[in-house]
Parts: sequence; C-alpha cells; structure tokens
Amino acid sequence: MKERKNRVCPVERAGSLDSRIRKLYQNPEKMLRKYVRSGMTVLDLGCGPGFFSTAMAEMVGESGLVIAADLQQGMLSKLKEKIKGTGIEKTILLHKTSENRIGISRHVDLVLAFYIIHEIPDQERAMKEIWSILKPNGIFYLVEPKYFHVSKGEFEESVNKALKLGFSVVERPRIFLGRAAVLKK
Ligand SMILES: C[S@@+](CC[C@H](N)C(=O)[O-])C[C@H]1O[C@@H](n2cnc3c(N)ncnc32)[C@H](O)[C@@H]1O
Repeated sequence: MKERKNRVCPVERAGSLDSRIRKLYQNPEKMLRKYVRSGMTVLDLGCGPGFFSTAMAEMVGESGLVIAADLQQGMLSKLKEKIKGTGIEKTILLHKTSENRIGISRHVDLVLAFYIIHEIPDQERAMKEIWSILKPNGIFYLVEPKYFHVSKGEFEESVNKALKLGFSVVERPRIFLGRAAVLKK
C-alpha cells in the first residue's frame, strides 16, 4: 500500500495534468491570486509539465521568478518545450531535484506543493527543507489529491507534520478534487 502511494506520477500522465479542462476546475489564478504577486520568487515543487508554473510566471511578471522543480527530467523537458520562445521563458528557472533533496539555494516567498507530498517517502524531511527555503512569513500552499490517493486522515497527518515544524494555518481553501491547506512560516 505504502509503495503505491509513494509511486512517482509517470511522465506519460503529463498530458492529463496540463489540460485546458483542468483550468475550469482548478484555476491557478483564482487559487493563488491572494498569495502570488508581481516581483515575487516562488517555487513550484513537483511542477510536472508546469500547469501551475506557467500561470505563476504570468502572475509574478518579468520582475519575478518561478523555480519549477521536479524529480523527473522528462517532466522538466515538457515544460521547457512548452515555454520555448514565449514571453515567460526567462521567468521560469527549471530545476532538477534529487529524491531526498530539493536543493535550491534561493529564498522564496511561496512554495506550491500540488499533488506531490504523498509521492515523497520522507515528508518531514521535505517539509523541513521547505521551511528553510521560505522567507520569513513565506507561504507553503499544500494540496493533495482527494480520491484514491490521500485520505482525510493522511492529509491531516501531513498538515500536523507542518504544524510541528512551526507552520501555522492561514486557511483551508476548497479545491475541487483536492484537500488543501495554506500554511505560513
Ligand atoms: C501528480 S504530479 C503533479 C504535477 C503538478 N504539481 C500538477 O499539479 O500539475 C507529481 C509530480 O511530482 C514530482 N515529484 C515526485 N517526487 C518528487 C520529489 N521528491 N521532488 C520533486 N518532484 C517530485 C513528479 O515527478 C511529478 O511530476
């Protein structure tokens, strides 16, 4: 059971993560506009093909930066191809993580972890690193998939791990097909 939950989302699923239909039920602008502003540096952890990275790049603008980080080079290559020659190409920095380390040296205003934390075997270690990457008062926006993957109890366990590290809950936004918590450092 544990093995299935921690399995990394295959690159073949990238298309379904990056569809136009998804914008109708998980709209990045609506979800993030309270927290992402022009000039910010944000981390899209487990960015996949970049459904949220590209939207956040528009939101932070030319003076901001989106670090799009993923374990799989195949996901990063899809995103690289998608932004090639576009106006947001320079706003997105692609970063390959290792299984046990995010490994970025910049400090960021917000970390988005959308549908990724259940794929990380050592969540506590990952959250400690997220804490260290965030600026003071930075935001950790956590969303996990509702059905099949992550039960309510498991999601609450993840939130509790974050609370133990010192995060506090700002809000529990309602996200279709997701369980979400916005946490503050
Ligand atoms: C279900 S996908 C979600 C992608 C994206 N966040 C979205 O919502 O469209 C999970 C992503 O997390 C990545 N991932 C899994 N474990 C990771 C880790 N330890 N570090 C970085 N990325 C990881 C996978 O490669 C995959 O691209």
